[in-house]
Amino acid sequence: MAFALRKISIEDAPYIQEYASDVRIAQYTASIPHPYPENGALDFIMSALKNWEDNVDYTFAITKDNQFCGVISLFEISWDAQRASIGYWVALPYWNQGIATFAVNEIIQFARKQNLKEITARAFDANMPSIRVLLKNKFYLTRTQIHKAVCDTVYLSHFKLKL
Ligand SMILES: CC(C)(COP(=O)(O)OP(=O)(O)OC[C@H]1O[C@@H](n2cnc3c(N)ncnc32)[C@H](O)[C@@H]1OP(=O)(O)O)[C@@H](O)C(=O)NCCC(=O)NCCS
Repeated sequence: MAFALRKISIEDAPYIQEYASDVRIAQYTASIPHPYPENGALDFIMSALKNWEDNVDYTFAITKDNQFCGVISLFEISWDAQRASIGYWVALPYWNQGIATFAVNEIIQFARKQNLKEITARAFDANMPSIRVLLKNKFYLTRTQIHKAVCDTVYLSHFKLKL
């Protein structure tokens, strides 16, 4: 069983389209709309490839035995301040196998190679699996912020890792 990261590719579109359409993927992420648009995956990949080329952000497919199983991005990069954020999701059939923990560790190594000095991440308080993933990778909590939803009040926690 081998996990790996590789640059996102057009061939990932059918997998992203299927997996990201699940509300359980969208509900805790800021950037995945629900319902997921018809050409959502293709648009996302085209934009990610352009941004990679321009060194704006870096989006990877996460794979298990060469099968697509998720996405992780290093984004909101400030080259001047030498910091960036990470965002990630793992397709439902692959949850609880250590895949996100592995992917976050890999992207930390990648960020170090880019000479970045700080990574931040955000997770809703109800998203215990994501918080576990960050704590296992030695991120620490910096602040928790009230995030107003339509008829609910939820809390968004901010994490940081110094490289
Ligand atoms: C969050 C997410 C990426 C985790 O992916 P994953 O590959 O299943 O994560 P891992 O297997 O590496 O680790 C999950 C950890 O959470 C723990 N966990 C799972 N469900 C849990 C729960 N309900 N309460 C507490 N911990 C839980 C697991 O036991 C594991 O911790 P452990 O290794 O100490 O046992 C995945 O659930 C996901 O894609 N969720 C939807 C999108 C999302 O939330 N993205 C992150 C936005 S911040």
